[in-house]
Amino acid sequence: MITQKVLDLTLLLIVIGIPVVLIGLHNMSNPALRLPPIPTIQELIRVYKLGARKRLSQNFLLNQAAIQKLVNCAGDLKGCSVCETLSSAYTYIGKNMRIFHGDVLKFNMTDTFTNVEKRDWHDEPPDVHIIGNLPFNISTPLIILWLRQISQRQGPWSYGRTRLTLTFQKEVGERMVADIMDKQRSRLSIMCQHLCDVKVKHIIPGKVFVPAPKVDVSVVTFTPLRMPRITQPYHIVEKVVRHTFHYRQKYCKRGLETLFPPDLSHLCGEMLDKADIDPTTRPQQLSIDEFDRLCSIYSSYCEEYRGLFEYYYRDQHPNSVELIATAGD
Ligand SMILES: *[C@@H]1O[C@H](CO)[C@@H](O)[C@H](O)[C@H]1NC(C)=O
Ligand SMILES: *[C@@H]1O[C@H](CO)[C@@H](O)[C@H](O)[C@H]1NC(C)=O
Repeated sequence: MITQKVLDLTLLLIVIGIPVVLIGLHNMSNPALRLPPIPTIQELIRVYKLGARKRLSQNFLLNQAAIQKLVNCAGDLKGCSVCETLSSAYTYIGKNMRIFHGDVLKFNMTDTFTNVEKRDWHDEPPDVHIIGNLPFNISTPLIILWLRQISQRQGPWSYGRTRLTLTFQKEVGERMVADIMDKQRSRLSIMCQHLCDVKVKHIIPGKVFVPAPKVDVSVVTFTPLRMPRITQPYHIVEKVVRHTFHYRQKYCKRGLETLFPPDLSHLCGEMLDKADIDPTTRPQQLSIDEFDRLCSIYSSYCEEYRGLFEYYYRDQHPNSVELIATAGD
């Protein structure tokens, strides 16, 4: 019990000291995740002065039933290694647990799961799960970083198609799963869906967290696809999708134009034509297949016109036009 208390204290202090930091790795020999006793919210607030710690923008999950529901969203964890970035005061303390302290945005998980058998990408997912309740300002940059690693099969994805169960503000979860024509459809929808089977599994009411955020929270699961739905490398997809959604309320042509410097502006119309897309389509009306075609054509232009990928329309970069002028060699 003393050990338990000390560990809880250490963990919580670490979480408070450096908000992004806790990574616990559990080997789940027991399929029924047994949760240790959780201190009451009043105790925590008193001991850790959570109420005064607004600057952390961190929302702890202390409600045992809610934690259990979040964990259940990950599916069957029997025999799995579970990497938890759950920054709840709760943590499962067992002899099969290792704790790493580091910034989750910088932590390299490539060699972390020593007991896990690597699987071929086309095989079933490996016995690793990543489960996390991170501060909202961390969870979105983190999923963007992890999507890149998924596309490059690095970090936790060097083990195969490692699954994720993560919390986001409800509307961020809605954007991630938004289908074609949905008004929530955005850059995040395409970035998530072209690489993963992504689902909102559960909504946790905001009031369950401490301190309570103003919004409810989505539990989102990600299972990397065997075949990405857009075949180009991540940096190409990221750029084309970002520019397409620059002007959400306008025709897709308007955003796509910003991919090209003035002297190559004709390529935008040509690209839409080759991709068989009506230039007056709105960004949220584009299917992932259409993005796939746009990305392939843009990628071929980048090969043809040196410097095109580096071109950024807001830079007053005197060399960009010069670089483009050398295209073709
Ligand atoms: C998230 O917010 C916390 C607290 O405001 C801040 O310390 C941290 O640097 C932020 N992180 C990012 C990646 O924006
Ligand atoms: C992570 O570690 C692996 C193996 O140790 C290494 O190959 C890889 O380059 C590292 N990734 C980053 C982003 O540092």
